[in-house]
Amino acid sequence: MSQYHIKSLEEYFQVYHKSVREPEIFWEEIAEENFVWKKRWDSIFDWDMKSHKVKWFDGAQLNITENCIDRHLETRGNKTAIIFEPNDPSEKAQHISYRELHRRVCQFANVLKDKGIQKGDRVCIYLPMIPQLATSILACARIGAIHNVVFAGFSANALATRINDSECKMLITSDGSFRGEKVIDLKGIVDEALLSCPTVESVLVAQRTYAKVKMQKGRDFLLQPLLNSAYKDCDPEVMGAEDPLFILYTSGSTGLPKGMLHTAGGYMVYTAYTFKNVFQYQENDIFWCTADIGWITGHSYILYGPLANGATTVMFEGVPSYPDWGRFWHVLEKHKVTQFYTAPTVIRALAKENLSFVEEYDLTSLKVLGTVGEPINEEAWHWYNDNIGQGNAPIVDTWWQTETGGIMISPIPFSTPAIPTFATLPLPGIQPCLMNEQGLEIKGNPANGKLCIKFPWPSMARSIWGNHERFIETYFAPFENKYFTGDGALRDHTGYYRITGRVDDIIIISGHNLGTAPIEDTINEHPAVAESAIVGYPHEIKGNALYAYVILKESGETRNHDNLRNEINQLINEHIGPIAKLEKIQFTNGLPKTRSGKIMRRILRKIACDEVSDLGDTSTLLNPEIVEEIIQQKL
Ligand code: PRX
Repeated sequence: MSQYHIKSLEEYFQVYHKSVREPEIFWEEIAEENFVWKKRWDSIFDWDMKSHKVKWFDGAQLNITENCIDRHLETRGNKTAIIFEPNDPSEKAQHISYRELHRRVCQFANVLKDKGIQKGDRVCIYLPMIPQLATSILACARIGAIHNVVFAGFSANALATRINDSECKMLITSDGSFRGEKVIDLKGIVDEALLSCPTVESVLVAQRTYAKVKMQKGRDFLLQPLLNSAYKDCDPEVMGAEDPLFILYTSGSTGLPKGMLHTAGGYMVYTAYTFKNVFQYQENDIFWCTADIGWITGHSYILYGPLANGATTVMFEGVPSYPDWGRFWHVLEKHKVTQFYTAPTVIRALAKENLSFVEEYDLTSLKVLGTVGEPINEEAWHWYNDNIGQGNAPIVDTWWQTETGGIMISPIPFSTPAIPTFATLPLPGIQPCLMNEQGLEIKGNPANGKLCIKFPWPSMARSIWGNHERFIETYFAPFENKYFTGDGALRDHTGYYRITGRVDDIIIISGHNLGTAPIEDTINEHPAVAESAIVGYPHEIKGNALYAYVILKESGETRNHDNLRNEINQLINEHIGPIAKLEKIQFTNGLPKTRSGKIMRRILRKIACDEVSDLGDTSTLLNPEIVEEIIQQKL
């Protein structure tokens, strides 16, 4: 039996129990047998429960790119590492071999060095899904620079916030990007953002659309000419296992987004291990994760996890609806994809379209299907199982977070029997628990409570960049010595977990996390707005959509309300991005508040969800009469 590759339910239980009983031995063996280290660790893990400083493989030295690229060169040099599938199906796909990837990453790394980037510097990457996104990330990791990838759908304002919070010295972007029929002026967004980013000294611009863009002399450089003249080899920087690898921002329920900090050694071990098991990866499989690399799913399962295993990973630039709703299945057939990993919101959108889009293509190469990002509803699960997997490809419903770095709860395909809507069992090394309202762990099954993890795992975020206090407050203060996920879950009589959704002020729209506070702050910036509150309500495709309750400064506001709605959404678009669009905006004269002035979102949520027959206890409200008024005026 190999604990690196679990092949049956019995093996899973054996390995799992070992990982709980003897975590140090378990992780030591995994780390030792499957990776290259320049120096061995002094200790496997160390957890200071007071400061919540966690260390894995401390004292060890490595470079993640050596594990993801160099070590494959001898045996897999000509094997395809990355298949780049462009937005336009008539443009040829690129097959980038491990050898070619090595050259491109080394050249890119040398360009970074030439521009003064050193170990520990932060580099912001704001690129579409083109090969330079992968090579720039790996180039940073090669020289020990900390990459901060910002999803290229974010607005100038959101980009600037993320650059400034982590004080990035460089920005890597492109002239523009293609998304279906749309051409987006990425450099224009960058120029706007950089008006307020004093730390950025240089900007590298990849050419994708070849649109004419403004180049600021001395600051902006076209990337390709620099790459062309760069030396083709670059020794990997020696990194400590606990040296930062990257920062990736995720929404907080209040204030600034949180820059989750991940470190090199533990992240590498855990993403590689989970990739191998959750997708039952075998040599020569073709793996396709449809996420954008701007999210953690792309970091861990388009790049690091697959490449650490020497796999072939697909990077798709386009959208599922272009040139028609058969595009995914076309790509799947074309590259003979064996594992396909996507989000429930995408499945729901695809399921709404005519089945003939699926039937046109041969999907028999598929072995495993995956979902991530939000709870999957039964209907979508069955559509995916019946029409895409055709009953032959088990579905892995994988639960995890930006903070966890890798997949935490998931079936192991061909081993764990799947039940629709259940993420099922924790992966080896992961010790989940459910907490009740009194803050106590609920023992026994079935159970329903707040999901925590009671023991560290290698890829957990180490901190929030620049704000360790907030890290402790958000994740460790709610339950003593436990990592609090912010999710609710139930555990059935067999011990299977089902994630029921967020229990904090984060709303998941189309698989993207959005905090309520930054959106409300943006609405309140409109000169006509006095106050606002937003909640989520179920949406057929997006999972949840945003419902805003807005109080105007002048109750007798005479302006056309639809204009006002558009203006508010325009502000949201500029400050956050189109993903935070308010689906419904209801103008109201008041919001239900407790005597201490707190908005009772629970009631607003019920109204938005049309669950007004059961509003629960409203006796603590300062203004109970407003509830009826809001119900009467509901959209
Ligand atoms: O609420 C959970 C939901 O997505 C949140 C994490 O979002 P993010 O950090 O953006 O990472 C998404 C990709 C890993 C979680 O707290 N979530 C993620 N996967 C699932 C899920 N909810 C239910 N089922 C899942 N499989």
